[in-house]
Amino acid sequence: MCGIVGYLGSNQAAPVLLSKLRVLEYRGYDSAGVAVIEGGRLNVIKSVGKLSNLETLLQKERPAATVGIGHTRWATHGSPTDANAHPHIDESGTLAVVHNGIIENYSELRDELTGLGFEFRSDTDTEVAAHLVAYEYAKTKDILAAIVATVVRMRGAYALGIVSQNEPDRIFAVNHHYSLVVGLGDKESFLASDSAAVRQYTNKILRLEQSEIAEITACGVRLFDFQGKEQFREPATLNGDPYHIDKEGYKHFLLKEIHEQPLVLRQTLSKYVRSQNKPIDFNIEQFAAEADGEGLYGVRLTEDEIKSVERILIVACGTAYHAGLVGKYILEELCGIPVEVEIASEIRGRRLLVNDKTLTIAVSQSGETADTLAAIKEAISLGSFTLGITNRPDSHLARITPNLVVTECGIEVSVAATKTYSAQLVCFYLLAIYMAEIRGTLSAPEAAKVKKSLLQIPALVEQVLARAEDYKKASLEMSEAKGAVFIGRGLNYPTALEGALKLKELSYIHASGYAAGELKHGPIAVLDASVPVVTVLVPGKVYEKTLSNAQESRARQAKMVAVVVDGDELAPQTFDHLLSIPPVDEFVSPLLTVVPLQLMSYFVADFLGKDVDQPRNLAKSVTVE
Ligand code: AGP
Repeated sequence: MCGIVGYLGSNQAAPVLLSKLRVLEYRGYDSAGVAVIEGGRLNVIKSVGKLSNLETLLQKERPAATVGIGHTRWATHGSPTDANAHPHIDESGTLAVVHNGIIENYSELRDELTGLGFEFRSDTDTEVAAHLVAYEYAKTKDILAAIVATVVRMRGAYALGIVSQNEPDRIFAVNHHYSLVVGLGDKESFLASDSAAVRQYTNKILRLEQSEIAEITACGVRLFDFQGKEQFREPATLNGDPYHIDKEGYKHFLLKEIHEQPLVLRQTLSKYVRSQNKPIDFNIEQFAAEADGEGLYGVRLTEDEIKSVERILIVACGTAYHAGLVGKYILEELCGIPVEVEIASEIRGRRLLVNDKTLTIAVSQSGETADTLAAIKEAISLGSFTLGITNRPDSHLARITPNLVVTECGIEVSVAATKTYSAQLVCFYLLAIYMAEIRGTLSAPEAAKVKKSLLQIPALVEQVLARAEDYKKASLEMSEAKGAVFIGRGLNYPTALEGALKLKELSYIHASGYAAGELKHGPIAVLDASVPVVTVLVPGKVYEKTLSNAQESRARQAKMVAVVVDGDELAPQTFDHLLSIPPVDEFVSPLLTVVPLQLMSYFVADFLGKDVDQPRNLAKSVTVE
């Protein structure tokens, strides 16, 4: 949450900072700002609202500066206002700070600084960092010493960018349990929260370790620990192409990303599936050769270790948590191992019962979600085997889990996750087949059958996408709803949860997902003609029971919508709108059933004129706990 950028070189800093902020806007879009050294003086330009507001200001002011830092904000302390926008300055107006994360003891520090006569201009926790560095600097005139003296006093997980007109040829960065990278170009240097924002300019990067300070000049970088002791590390070279961010003719990134699903599913499958009749390939050495300088992925667990696993714990948040719920069904079914799925934030402050017979799997598109990282770190400390499923092999998660399965999605720009969810599901299927074959709970012919079904999925998703216009009508009726209820059973209960989350976050219509059998235990009370029920209904083990639950809803006058497969003869009698999909094997059906629900949420949100790619109050990467 929040994005930090920085630049030093011979080019104009403002356009570079702006282009890097554009890449990081997914991290927050409440306000944005830059602080540059212009003619030897600090100049702060910032604005509440989207980055385009800052862009307008910068076009007007055109600051002539070659050194600066910038920020895009997702508000934690203090509402989104000009005053609370970053950068924040010290009292003399000579030093500016941008900040990600939370300074947990800010209130105590603020009281202390207020007692010393400092006046605060914002409601943020960040401002204490600006005043503290300035206070310490006044004592020694040594900015590095001032930063060291400041960071040892601040608690929490955070990252800082600092610029001072007293030190015009350098910027400083602090990383404390967060993410920051320095990019090293030809007589120019860059700072960013995410390597994607640096990759546009250079492929030579140095990632800050936990509790590290970087002194960055146009010619290089020096690293220090929190005691001020210099650290030495070589930069890495990124081999992959820079991220290409373009809507490619689609009205929104979300729509483009929904339509990219056949491609990303094919890419993810072809990465790990050699053929229907061969074992899944998670060979770490092979992927090491292709890795882009940072991300080593594959599964290192030995066959004996895989056989020794007695329990699996999946930790994740939001959509990734829903992928984990599908993962539970798949792993239990194929491997016969008990699986629990936990919302990562619920791990905090309680006894985590994992040990060396547990495999803990963290699922995170970004690999930077603070709660998920905290949960997996806890599992590591307790001796559990750990594995990450992520879209970012350069992420924090990727660096701390020895086993990593990467979704091959490219960057997902829209805040609502779509293509990464589908790819996470594929990873769970492949992981389950891999483990089940090793553990002997799935024969080679049975494994070949599941792989065959999976390999057919991309073409089936293409067929679903081709029906997008058919789904529009049901969607437009949904836009008048007071609220909505999504139901499903078994493998498609998580689909119901995910459908409800997509509708909520995109259209702001309140929606809840339920296990269909739970409806009559309470939620049915909310049903009337203004609350539609969306049922996920796939032929198979739980078809009849799900249909009965839908009929109970119909009897309460609810408008009935259902995802059903072609040729379902019973469905037309129960549902007002059918979102039909091609026939699909029940076991892999979550890969297909979610797509009409993604499209429906998109259509509703677009029809209601919502900010589809950047819904209010959200950020793509949730890096605060
Ligand atoms: C999904 O549409 C949401 N934007 C959100 O729930 C997201 O899945 C969650 O914050 C987890 O993010 P992660 O996958 O990057 O860890």
